[in-house]
Amino acid sequence: MLETLNIDVQKVAKSKISSVDFSDLPFGKVFSDHMLVAEYSDGEWKNVSIKPYAPIEFTPAMASLHYGQAIFEGLKAFKNEQGEAVIFRPEANFERFNLSAERMCMPTVPEDIFMKGMSQLIDIDNEWVPNKPDHALYIRPFMFSTDEFIGVRPSAKYMFIIFTCPVGAYYSKPVKVKFETTYSRSCPGGIGFAKAAANYGGAMYPTMLAQKEGFDQVIWTDSSKHEFIEESGVMNVMFVIDGKLITPPAKDTILKGITRDSVLTVARDWGMAVEERPVSVSEVVTAIEEGRLTEAFGVGTAATISQIAQITNGTKDYILPDPANREFSNKVHKELDAIKKGTVADPHGWIYKV
Ligand code: COI
Repeated sequence: MLETLNIDVQKVAKSKISSVDFSDLPFGKVFSDHMLVAEYSDGEWKNVSIKPYAPIEFTPAMASLHYGQAIFEGLKAFKNEQGEAVIFRPEANFERFNLSAERMCMPTVPEDIFMKGMSQLIDIDNEWVPNKPDHALYIRPFMFSTDEFIGVRPSAKYMFIIFTCPVGAYYSKPVKVKFETTYSRSCPGGIGFAKAAANYGGAMYPTMLAQKEGFDQVIWTDSSKHEFIEESGVMNVMFVIDGKLITPPAKDTILKGITRDSVLTVARDWGMAVEERPVSVSEVVTAIEEGRLTEAFGVGTAATISQIAQITNGTKDYILPDPANREFSNKVHKELDAIKKGTVADPHGWIYKV
């Protein structure tokens, strides 16, 4: 289909890039010049266009506002050593996007609209792709239902949009987290594995309570007994215990993170022992108490590799080993940066040139 996709392009009269302070980029507040928009109706995608980033009009009865048929993805573009824009593992985001779409009873988006549309958008806004450490152009593809109808049923119309934001780090320092043992993010059979907007909305109240107590985030535990670790707010979690990299399995209650997969793959390439298996709160607490846990960190597209400085279990605070001295997570962070820069080999074909 690639050669048949026709994208109508309408560029901004004047770029707003000169008004942006690239030395101080907050996460997700600065938007680049253009966005890609496609519409779905009568069983097909149509009207694919790239146009100036701007507000869109909608009816108050728009179905997604009422019943939450809304999904998204997050991925990043970087500048490599040659100054070319590259995207990290977009095919993986494309696949996950359509898995989310199926679970939420939404149409899948064709590969050419997602991939070619994204590539063309990044090419047009190439100047917006930062070229400095820990910075990137964050890409946000998303889809929502647009029927003007408030009966509860899957919508017949949808909109797919991609916009982009030049960003710095999501967390500027190591985070303090607590095990969440009252509220749940997801449950077996639910939508936890999908990147559905509803997962994030439902997480806000418990996260706000934790933030009032001084934490940055929670670590979710299983919804039945709160014994097993699932993931953190905007990232999957990993531990190094007894020299092994341990993380909960990506199952129906846990987002199958792409950074998660990249870190596990590099660890395996390096010959490190990797275990994807249920991890209990008590196992982690015992390992901390016995000095066998050497690293704890979150992994995600926005968060990249975010060190966990402190974990609280109930009323007990555990200060973890100094993030600056953590061998594996710091090394894998550098390796992923080097793959994106193109200064080391990319054996798994993760880099997509725009
Ligand atoms: C991402 O890492 O892309 C995420 O989805 C986190 C986002 C909710 C800020």
